Amino acid sequence: MSRRAIIELQQVSKRYAVSRDTPVLDNLSTEVMEGEFVSLMGPSGSGKTTLLNLIAGLDIPDSGWVKIDGTDLRTLRDRQLSKLRLHTIGFVFQSFNLLPAFRVEENVSWPLDLCGHKRAEVRRRTAEALQRVGIVGCERRYPAELSGGEQQRVAIARAIATGPSILLADEPTGNLDSHTGETILDLLRNLNDSEGVTIVMVTHNVFAATYGHRTLEMHDGKIVRDVRAPAPPPVSAVDIGSR
Ligand SMILES: Nc1ncnc2c1ncn2[C@@H]1O[C@H](COP(=O)(O)OP(=O)(O)OP(=O)(O)O)[C@@H](O)[C@H]1O
Ligand SMILES: [Mg+2]
Repeated sequence: MSRRAIIELQQVSKRYAVSRDTPVLDNLSTEVMEGEFVSLMGPSGSGKTTLLNLIAGLDIPDSGWVKIDGTDLRTLRDRQLSKLRLHTIGFVFQSFNLLPAFRVEENVSWPLDLCGHKRAEVRRRTAEALQRVGIVGCERRYPAELSGGEQQRVAIARAIATGPSILLADEPTGNLDSHTGETILDLLRNLNDSEGVTIVMVTHNVFAATYGHRTLEMHDGKIVRDVRAPAPPPVSAVDIGSR
């Protein structure tokens, strides 16, 4: 594994107006190496989603800085930030966030359209991404016509279609039953193993966390534990989908 830091956070603090007294992120510093698969754990409200949002440039810290692939996000204009999000970072949400009025293939292809690819290339990449996640034959369906696991796979296809080097996944198995959750985790592991995609995955589940090389644990906006996880997951999959 390369030792280049692809995500760096230095003394990052964030508070929201409504919770002015308690910082949501409190002077947090860490880095993630290229090719790492990090599981991010911690109780509800500890700041995990906020941290992912800052890494993705969807929100900005009050103080401190975030660097992606060596670039300080503070130095980027809106357009450059959108470009970085489009090309470098894929985001998978717990609630899938698919566009209900768009067909499966359109849900995957719109970021490719935004990237400016030609029509044939958009089609090729869309088909490839859907195939990668095992969604074949339902390209013309709408999200509501898919199971939760299928919707999450479409969401992953959308996130990887542009070939990002970083995948941020916010509880990708949180809404899924344990078997489906395991399929998603295998998919993430495969992306990490075979394509070297750096993954930061939020999870409440100890079994899911074993898919990562490393576990970060947050509490009250701080990283309170940073441990190398045992690589292979236990043989029996217990309770992956539940929190
Ligand atoms: N947009 C916002 N405005 C005000 N407060 C917010 C906002 N987003 C998050 N918070 C607060 O910041 C804290 C951290 O929220 P965050 O969503 O990062 O937690 P989390 O660790 O992801 O929790 P969960 O496991 O429940 O998803 C919470 O107390 C939350 O209420
Ligand atoms: Mg969250």
